[in-house]
Amino acid sequence: MEIKNRNALSIHYVPDNLPYREKEIEFIQSVLFPIANNIRVPNVIIYGNTGTGKTSVVKYIGKKIPEGVVFKYINAKFENSAYKVLSKVAGEEEKMGYTISHFIQKLKKDPKNMIVVLDEADFLKKDIDDVLYYLSRINEDLETHIAFILITNKINLKSQLDARTRSSLDERELFFKPYDAFQLRGILEERAKLVIGDQYDPAAIQKIAAVAAQDNGDARYALKLLSKAIEIAEQQNAEKLEISHVDRAIESLEFDLVSETIKTQPLNHQIALYAIAKMTLSKRGLIDDSGFIPIGELYNFYVKVSEQVFKRKPKSSKRFKEYISELENLGVLSTTMLRRGSRDYTRLVRLGINPKDVIKFFEQ
Ligand SMILES: Nc1ncnc2c1ncn2[C@@H]1O[C@H](COP(=O)(O)OP(=O)(O)OP(=O)(O)O)[C@@H](O)[C@H]1O
Ligand SMILES: [Mg+2]
Repeated sequence: MEIKNRNALSIHYVPDNLPYREKEIEFIQSVLFPIANNIRVPNVIIYGNTGTGKTSVVKYIGKKIPEGVVFKYINAKFENSAYKVLSKVAGEEEKMGYTISHFIQKLKKDPKNMIVVLDEADFLKKDIDDVLYYLSRINEDLETHIAFILITNKINLKSQLDARTRSSLDERELFFKPYDAFQLRGILEERAKLVIGDQYDPAAIQKIAAVAAQDNGDARYALKLLSKAIEIAEQQNAEKLEISHVDRAIESLEFDLVSETIKTQPLNHQIALYAIAKMTLSKRGLIDDSGFIPIGELYNFYVKVSEQVFKRKPKSSKRFKEYISELENLGVLSTTMLRRGSRDYTRLVRLGINPKDVIKFFEQ
């Protein structure tokens, strides 16, 4: 297999065209671009799940900006306070001694038409009210026009704003729907063509699209799978990308996710996971085929594993139950109550990730 353009798989790559988002692009441009004629325009709020193309769309729009309009892209994950955002908007270094009103004065002294993007706006937390307040204050000025695009994963973002901020918003809202399997296939095929030309079995791309569509319609995950599958095909010196490479890629990404999750857990949580995985694999203590294990038996096995495998003093059964609840909140296992007698209930625990991945993590 010959790689034509590896760069097109990088996470920073912004494609030249964004299929299935033409309407959204068109709408945003029609709301904001009249700012070039020195008029005040509404703001835009974009909602949507992860991987639905929000960032790509605004970066694309940033490349088409009309002459005389300043475009600022700000990611609130990095500029996570009102101070940092305003200094970025004003184009100032964050120097000691500068105040927010200094930035505002600077913007007013040199009037411009600006479109400011606040990506991942949730990271601003309570500061978002201040940011919107200051931007609207600058906008009151006759000669400066600032419109912003707010991007968020949270559908309830507006309800968390101050009543005052909310009432002065003047927003147009837009929801980016998750991609379906058909759209993901289109996106993947376009990208695959750039990277490997036609050296692929269409069924392989279809498989990635189907898997990613089930997994929230996340284009980022779909492209990650494509990238991994191509990497595997290359390692195997394959002539083209096949379904088997995709299957391996799915396993590999799932394992990466499981390792990341386990790695960030404290040791006793890890031991608990190891114990559940071992019991699940050996079918030891399972009440039936559903994979549920009574928590008492799980605890006994945890004690044994702690002492014998991890050479650690096990924690009390009370603490152990807390670990189980925390792991349940993380989504790596689930629990349910089983009624044994008229008043006798017992808690059952089931692993929500592949037990083989868990054991493999510890073996490595
Ligand atoms: N319509 C599209 N055509 C081609 N590629 C796309 C399209 N939509 C998304 N992508 C690709 O999918 C990946 C994720 O997109 P993007 O970063 O824009 O998602 P997002 O909605 O901003 O997600 P998040 O909420 O996690 O920030 C990017 O690599 C992007 O290139
Ligand atoms: Mg984004």
